[in-house]
Amino acid sequence: MKRAPGLRRQIIQSLAVMALGIILMSVCGSYVFYAIAIAYLPESISDTWIPSRVEMIWIGCTIVAALGMAVFFAIRLSRRLLTPLNSVAYSLREVAQGRLTARARMDERAMGETAQLVRDFNAMAERLQSMTREREFWNAAIAHELRTPVTILRGRLQGLSEGVFTPSSELFEGLLGQVEGLNRLIEDLRVLSLNDSGHLELQRAEVDLAQELGSVLQAFAAPLAEKGFHLRSEFEANLRVKCDPVRLRQALMALLENALRHADPGTLQVRLEQADGDCRLIVEDDGPGIDSALAADIFEAFRRGDPSRSRKSGGSGLGLAVVRAIAEAHGGQAICRPTGRGGSAFVIAWPLGAAVT
Ligand SMILES: Nc1ncnc2c1ncn2[C@@H]1O[C@H](COP(=O)(O)OP(=O)(O)O)[C@@H](O)[C@H]1O
Ligand SMILES: [Mg+2]
Repeated sequence: MKRAPGLRRQIIQSLAVMALGIILMSVCGSYVFYAIAIAYLPESISDTWIPSRVEMIWIGCTIVAALGMAVFFAIRLSRRLLTPLNSVAYSLREVAQGRLTARARMDERAMGETAQLVRDFNAMAERLQSMTREREFWNAAIAHELRTPVTILRGRLQGLSEGVFTPSSELFEGLLGQVEGLNRLIEDLRVLSLNDSGHLELQRAEVDLAQELGSVLQAFAAPLAEKGFHLRSEFEANLRVKCDPVRLRQALMALLENALRHADPGTLQVRLEQADGDCRLIVEDDGPGIDSALAADIFEAFRRGDPSRSRKSGGSGLGLAVVRAIAEAHGGQAICRPTGRGGSAFVIAWPLGAAVT
């Protein structure tokens, strides 16, 4: 887009053109006036310093024309300045009253800084609106995720109190499972909101990360084998890393849980490596993979791949968002990329020498 010249330049230009116009009008006009007067009415020209009547009329006309020209330029300039400013002021009041759809009108004649002001204001209003939309989406999504376990709990407890269900250890285990699910959801939400506000604090320590993560693999070995996964771990030995081992274990757990829930049984590769000053934890499965259009967004909270399939699998949709939050808190990032074998690889990478808090 072509940038309009700055306000200062436009004001200088306008005033210069106006001054030039007035000077040209009076100088050239005087030449023409005296040429005509000398040719046709020589007696009408005064011989003294006092102007004659015709000359007085000419001076009067010149003043009126010059004033007219000045007023014309002033109106044009102020309109160019004030129209966008008024539009911003009006929209600002609208936004202050909660109507976030208000946008300032971009006048095609708006100049440099005022045009920029209109653009900035509109960008701010757009951001406010999308933040509000996001918050509404979050509230609805959280309410939705809370509803299922709470409904189940209420039904079972009501059944128990009315004697419909006979108390049994399986029933209580089921109830406990729902409460644990709720607890996880609350903890995930807490991690995400702490990360959003920049308050996710890490308990960093220099640890043998392979050993720390090995315990998670051990815990998952049985359920993975039960589902038909072949677990292969390649951990770089003696990798002493300064990190928050509890959070990294939590991230690996979320990735392994996802493999259990969403991946097809096959080889599941977990690698921990150090390269280019980064530490990388990679979990790679054999399929079905994540659509490339979705892969960039999959770390957003409540984003699911195939909704019907994912919902049935029972996750809350926050697992990968938490993984990303943990990676970011380590000064790194989390990415999802397709593998050559049709599966997906989830990578958490963070700089080893990161001086992040
Ligand atoms: N290993 C995987 N293979 C295929 N799809 C996956 C895998 N991991 C995650 N996904 C997709 O990413 C979505 C988001 O994952 P996540 O944030 O952990 O939420 P949840 O597991 O609770 O559904 C899942 O719903 C699923 O569609
Ligand atoms: Mg998950």
